[in-house]
Amino acid sequence: MQTARMLSLLFFFLPTLSGTISCGEESPAPEDVFNQRILPIFRSAEPSSCVQCHLASVDLKNYIFPSHEKTFLSLRDQGLIDLKAPANSKILKLIQMGNKDLDEGAKLIHEKMRRMEAKAFAAWIEACCDDVALRNLPKLSTEELAKPSAPDAVIRHARKSRIVDSFARNIWSQRMRCFPCHTPHEIDPENPRHAVAIKKQKELKEKYGDQMQRLNIFRKTPEETLDFLITSSSQTNSGSLPLLNLKDPRNSLIILKPTAKLPHKKPDGTFTDPSSVVPVSHMGGLKMHPNDQSYKSFVAWISDYAKTVNGDYQTVNELPADNWIPSKLILKLKETPKEWKVGTPVQLLLHQWNKDQKRWNESATAFTQGTVTPRGIVNGALFILGHGRSSETTSANKEDGLPSGPFLVQVYLDKKNRLEADPTIMLGDDDFYGSTELDTKRWREGFKTGKIISAKKLQLGR
Ligand code: HEC
Ligand code: HEC
Repeated sequence: MQTARMLSLLFFFLPTLSGTISCGEESPAPEDVFNQRILPIFRSAEPSSCVQCHLASVDLKNYIFPSHEKTFLSLRDQGLIDLKAPANSKILKLIQMGNKDLDEGAKLIHEKMRRMEAKAFAAWIEACCDDVALRNLPKLSTEELAKPSAPDAVIRHARKSRIVDSFARNIWSQRMRCFPCHTPHEIDPENPRHAVAIKKQKELKEKYGDQMQRLNIFRKTPEETLDFLITSSSQTNSGSLPLLNLKDPRNSLIILKPTAKLPHKKPDGTFTDPSSVVPVSHMGGLKMHPNDQSYKSFVAWISDYAKTVNGDYQTVNELPADNWIPSKLILKLKETPKEWKVGTPVQLLLHQWNKDQKRWNESATAFTQGTVTPRGIVNGALFILGHGRSSETTSANKEDGLPSGPFLVQVYLDKKNRLEADPTIMLGDDDFYGSTELDTKRWREGFKTGKIISAKKLQLGR
């Protein structure tokens, strides 16, 4: 009797039981997998593993809806799921991107998160693909898709590697202006010409002791420098502005210090303590002029970085060109007209001769910016243009510097203080002053071999 009852129970339950078991092991209900493994990613306050390379504008969450079915359809309709070979789905490839990172440190930090995401998505996609009814549901409309709101170009702009590359060009490249006080790695103990620099570093170490790490602003590589600047800026106290000020880029300490003068002197001849809040003073004295070319590139990079991480860019048109390549080639304008006030910003643009079309190129090949000195001079190191975009025959790039002439030098004078509102802009037609030709066989680096033009030779107006 007992046995019979057991058997009947067994028989009664068997079909259902076996059904559940095989279903549970081979193809779990996609909705359950979604709720257990994908929803937690969607709801998490933590950024997804995409942050390893993308500082903003894209996150795995952007592709997820609270609904399992809609998430599947949305990924399917964007071509991110491969119905025939689920393991080859593009969304899995995006998650696996992090494995290819050359930055081993970053790769390691995000590894756990990446594995969890990859396994969760692989299991869920597998389950979905087994669900014929789900696979065959009608298409979503374009507006219904879940994806990042920013276009691809904006997403690419917020990539960490692009930001580091831009930092290297705009800020790191200018570090020799801060030599030797903030550039310990540029000092060569073997070089007799560095004797004064070595002495200066020693003095600073004695004076600042534990504080010295703060003064070692330029680290061994652009990456390490940027890491230091970002970390330090996130820990600032009320006694100091942040090195990088994301709320107000121009009030970044890394700009205010070198554009500030020495602190006041006390009656005994020693200096009062330097200030790191407005009005800032700098024990290194004035090392950068507001509106010189380095000031411009510092402001341009910090503003772009701030907008990028704050997620302020929405459309491609808002993105800056970010195509300045630094050089050590100097261009100097002398004998500026008397009516040009000392301190007025001036932009000098170099246009190349276009042999085929027998005219000057419309877009410039290089530019610099400086302010009128009391001796009537404007000079600066040239930034070569054209990085990452195909302008007219700009044969300029990092390796070959500038081609030989002839060039047309166009001079723009900021008489309306337009750079005060936005130091990063290029002046326009309204600010055009005049132009002159510069023929040069060879460009050589350094101040002594800079190219000189005279304002007296300028042909005024267009
Ligand atoms: C190892 C670095 C790395 C990781 C991690 C990474 N990406 Fe990317 N991503 C890139 C690079 C590089 C590009 C630019 C490709 C190009 O310019 O052609 C890019 C571009 C993109 C684009 C723009 C479209 C395109 O193809 O250019 C999207 C969307 C995107 N990634 C999404 C993601 C998502 C979602 C994640 C996380 C699941 C992610 N990425 C993780 C490096 C990465
Ligand atoms: C001749 C030496 C010298 C040069 C060159 C110099 N500085 Fe300084 N700088 C100092 C000294 C000394 C201090 C510490 C006292 C102070 O805060 O003013 C300092 C402080 C700073 C600080 C504050 C650091 C902090 O976190 O408190 C910043 C930022 C800075 N300098 C930026 C620059 C930049 C950028 C340049 C180059 C464009 C530059 N300095 C050139 C000597 C120099």
